[in-house]
Amino acid sequence: MLYPLVRRALFQLEPEVAHELAIALLGWVDPLLPRSAPHGAAGLSQDVFGVHFPNPVGLAAGFDKNARLPHVWSRFGFGFAELGTITARAQPGNPKPRIFRLAAQQALINRLGFNNQGAVSVAERLSAALATRPAIPIGINLGKSKVTPIEEANRDYCDSYRRLAPLADYVTINVSSPNTPGLRSLQNTAALADIIDALRAVELDAAAPPLLVKVAPDLADDDLRDIAALAVERGIDGLIATNTTLERTGLPPGARHRDEAGGLSGAPLRDRSTEVIRTLFAHCGGRIPIVGVGGIFSGADAFDKILAGAQLVQMYTGFIYGGPASPGRVVDELARQLEAAGFAHLRDAVGQRAG
Ligand SMILES: Cc1cc2nc3c(=O)[nH]c(=O)nc-3n(C[C@H](O)[C@H](O)[C@H](O)COP(=O)(O)O)c2cc1C
Repeated sequence: MLYPLVRRALFQLEPEVAHELAIALLGWVDPLLPRSAPHGAAGLSQDVFGVHFPNPVGLAAGFDKNARLPHVWSRFGFGFAELGTITARAQPGNPKPRIFRLAAQQALINRLGFNNQGAVSVAERLSAALATRPAIPIGINLGKSKVTPIEEANRDYCDSYRRLAPLADYVTINVSSPNTPGLRSLQNTAALADIIDALRAVELDAAAPPLLVKVAPDLADDDLRDIAALAVERGIDGLIATNTTLERTGLPPGARHRDEAGGLSGAPLRDRSTEVIRTLFAHCGGRIPIVGVGGIFSGADAFDKILAGAQLVQMYTGFIYGGPASPGRVVDELARQLEAAGFAHLRDAVGQRAG
C-alpha cells in the first residue's frame, strides 16, 4: 500500500542510483529478518527440468547482477530468481546514464552492458552465501566479457561456467543482450551449438545443472525455428523468451527517451515476447520448457504467456513499477485465473492457446 509513496521518492532519483540504493537497503535488512517459506498457491508448484519450483513467477536476470541477495527474493513472493548476468571478467559496463524510465508507457530502456564484478569474485561471495540454501531455486545467467573477441566466446562462457555452475540450480546462456557488441550473433545455430557443446564438455565435481538459452524478441520466425530445432537436437533444458528489444514500434512517436539506445522492456514488449513464446512452443512441439518474460505486470499477463506455452515466467520491469508486493500479487492473481478458467493445475494450461 505504501509503495506508491516509496516509488515517488525512488523515482526522484536517477534510475541506477535508485536501484543501487534499493539493493543496499535490502542487503542491510536481510540478515535481520527470519528466513521465510516460499510463497505457494494451490496448483502452481511444479518440477521443471528436474528442479522444484514452489511457484512459477521468478525474478528476471539483471536485477541482482552481482548475486548479492540470493536469500532475499523469496520474501517478495518470487518462486525462483535468476542472478547475473555475470561475465568471466569484471567489467564496468557502458558510460552512465544508461537506464531510462518511460513511466507513461510502463517501460524502461537500458544499455548497461553487463556491468558486474566478474565470475571469480561473484563465485567466492555466492558460495559463502549459499552455505544456507535459499528457499527458492537460483538460476545463474552467464554472458560474454566485452574484451573477449566474439570468436573466443566459448572460452569466456566456459570460464564463468566452471566457477558458477556448481552453485546454480540452472544456468542460462545469455546470447541475447543488445548491449554487448556482436553478442546476439551468437544466436545463430552454429555458434550456439558450439557454446552448448563447450559447456557440456566442462568437467564439474557435481552433476551439471540444467542449461537454458535466453533469446531476443527481435529474431525472425525462421531464426526462432532454427533455435527450437537446435534446442531439441542438443537436449537443451529450457528456453527463456525474451530479452529486451531494440524495436521501438510499441512506443508512441513522442515518447520520452524513445531515441535512447538500448533494450526496451516492460509493457511495450509484452505482446512480442508472448508471440515468441508461442512460436518456440510450436516449433519445439512442447518438448522444451519455456520461461516467458516480457511485460508481466499482472496475473493475467502471466496467464497469457502460460497459455502461449510458458511453464515458468519472470518479471523485471513490472517489479520496478509494481513494487515489493507485485510478485506475490501476480502469483495469487494467476492462481485465480487458472481456477476461473477451469484448470486444476498450471501444467494443464501450458500451451493451450499456442495456436
Ligand atoms: C535494467 C535492466 C537490466 C537487465 N539486465 C539483464 C541482464 O543482465 N541479463 C539478462 O539476461 N537480461 C537482462 N535484462 C532483461 C530482463 O531480464 C528481461 O528479459 C526483460 O527486461 C523483459 O522483461 P520485463 O519486461 O519484465 O522487464 C535487463 C532488463 C533491465 C530492464
